[in-house]
Amino acid sequence: MKQYLLSLCLATLLLSACTQQFPEANYDVIPQPKEVTLNEEKPFVLQPKTTVYYEEELQCEAQFLSEYVNDILSFKLAEQPLQGEAKEGIVLRLAPTEFDLSEAYEINITPKLVTIKGADAAGVFYGIQTLRKSLPIGESVNKAALPCGTIRDWPNFSYRGMHLDPCRHFMDLDSVKIYIDMLALHNMNQFHFHLTEDQGWRIEIKKYPKLTEIGAYRNGTVIGRNGRIYDTIRYGGFYTQEQLRDLVQYAAERHVNIIPEIDLPGHMQAALASYPELGCTGGPYEVWKRWGVSDDVLCAGNEETMLFVEDVLNEVMDIFPSPYIHIGGDECPKVRWEQCPKCQKKIKELGIKGDARFSKEDYLQSYVMNRMAKVVEARGRRVIGWDEILEGNVSETAIIQSWRGTEGGIEAAQKGHDVIMSPTSYLYFDYYQSEDPSTEPSCVGGYLPVSRVYEFKPLPSALTPEQQKHIIGVQANIWTEYITSFNHVEYMAMPRMDALAEIQWNNPTERDFDAFVERCRHIAELYDLYHYNYAKQIFNPQVYTDTVEPNLATRKPIFLREQPNEQYASKGALILNDGEMGRIAYNSGRWLGFWGQPLDAVIDLEQAATMSHVRFRALVNKGAWIYNPSHASVLVSDDGEAFREVAQLDIPITTWTDKDGNFTYELDFEPVIARYVEVIIKDHMLPEDHDGFGHPAWIFVDEIEVF
Ligand code: ACM
Ligand code: ZN
Repeated sequence: MKQYLLSLCLATLLLSACTQQFPEANYDVIPQPKEVTLNEEKPFVLQPKTTVYYEEELQCEAQFLSEYVNDILSFKLAEQPLQGEAKEGIVLRLAPTEFDLSEAYEINITPKLVTIKGADAAGVFYGIQTLRKSLPIGESVNKAALPCGTIRDWPNFSYRGMHLDPCRHFMDLDSVKIYIDMLALHNMNQFHFHLTEDQGWRIEIKKYPKLTEIGAYRNGTVIGRNGRIYDTIRYGGFYTQEQLRDLVQYAAERHVNIIPEIDLPGHMQAALASYPELGCTGGPYEVWKRWGVSDDVLCAGNEETMLFVEDVLNEVMDIFPSPYIHIGGDECPKVRWEQCPKCQKKIKELGIKGDARFSKEDYLQSYVMNRMAKVVEARGRRVIGWDEILEGNVSETAIIQSWRGTEGGIEAAQKGHDVIMSPTSYLYFDYYQSEDPSTEPSCVGGYLPVSRVYEFKPLPSALTPEQQKHIIGVQANIWTEYITSFNHVEYMAMPRMDALAEIQWNNPTERDFDAFVERCRHIAELYDLYHYNYAKQIFNPQVYTDTVEPNLATRKPIFLREQPNEQYASKGALILNDGEMGRIAYNSGRWLGFWGQPLDAVIDLEQAATMSHVRFRALVNKGAWIYNPSHASVLVSDDGEAFREVAQLDIPITTWTDKDGNFTYELDFEPVIARYVEVIIKDHMLPEDHDGFGHPAWIFVDEIEVF
């Protein structure tokens, strides 16, 4: 017996020595499987003679597995229906009673047999994705050793989504299919397809053919950052219903549900250009050629308009079987409704009154959203709306997508709504991935590195555990004003969507960014294999900080008489004299942003000092409403109470033809001796040629230096 064991061991040793020549799979994939237990048995060898046996409902999954193996190892697996028990090969099975959660799976690897069991077909599919992502990649790899053991895995969130805007720039059907492939690779199950916009209507509606004849094309596009020069190139495109049905099928095979969005009642200028009678003024309108938020929206007082929307939603629901239908609700200015006799008459008829929180026009929007929610619910579906739909009295059945931060999501969950978290500050993948945009393709602005996405915690501590159950999922958005090609979409998506996938699937309590980056290195090899375009900053981190000259103010006590805007408060006043200078990205945490109020900072130099020069840096990013300051003044004090002014500076407003960037402003004065310095920096109002005319401009200031 002892002899036998020994020879068995020897044989195992020899065999494992043999299999060592095959590169090994590594189960440290993205998202990371929750439980991986490996043993010392000799690995399973995945090779051309391996057969995949599948239960009847899993034929499609077997085909995917075979294709993935072919993509990576250059051979296909034989596929056979499972009859009885298989002794070797790969087996795909449904085991609904063995799991508590849908989409859960288990992979069991023994020397001869790999079994992938799922709570449902989606679970089996995610098991296959894990196996796919674990495979070794390389030109000469044509067999792979799968270490033996068991992997058990399940998702933390049932809703795991990404959004795409094919309206500002059109993405053809093949590109959208690649996007769906990307989602599937990352265990995502919801594709939010934003199909209508001011700048283009992208879905064929049989009852209203002009929506695509006219609404799908604009006669030019603004050049640069929403300036005043346009090209004259007719631009557009749309998807036929037949193409969309094909897409629904394509996605369903990959366990991705497509959520169509018809954005109401704003962002509708392309529809108004097609059917001007749907608007308050009757037009004429054109498919919009610039970016931003149009004042022209659907007329909520016109019954014909409401019937139009109902018809559109019904055709949309005929095409998309999705349990969720997105009806938008964001960014709907009320200026037309305030002036429109029909809208005002409707307000009277409905007995709508404004109150301290919301105007009567806000409540009119609630009326529209609730009416459309009923149309959707009548067909057994649920509506999703952007968080603005909380402004009024939206029905509790609506799912709220929190995009302007997480506050909307918190309020919604407290009121009993289900919530999808998509805050701009973590999950808007149309922001820059580098602090130095000169090295990056164009985008809307902002700064959102992978590390920040990875930090996002979707379950706010302000919610009770019971309320947290309303956070059904997490989603990132890709808006395409400045993203003109699908290749660029890929670059904006990856690898930020890896960080997102990790949060959606695992919402890890412990986060180890360095280990995550190591796992990204492997999936990046898969991106190379599929020729996906992706950002590589995390593999070659660069630090973009300008260190300032030490000066009297550096790291001295500082306080603000006016607080910065909550969104851009970073670590507070100390950012202003920490010795590190912000670069270009206004949301890098290195700038303080103020809107509608001055920056007023007092620095305590801790002892009286002689000074004659103060300088500070401010950002200009006109498209983001950030302008240079209008005025700066320096005051000094001996006791921190009585201040006297020693210098002031008027700064003319920058114009459209001036460059954006960061600029230094300097104030010189006769030498004074004092202990306290106060710096007051005031804003401009946005000029007449700006979209936001009439509103204050933002000011973003970083280091204040005193010499
Ligand atoms: C949005 O970003 N306007 C929802
Ligand atoms: Zn109206």
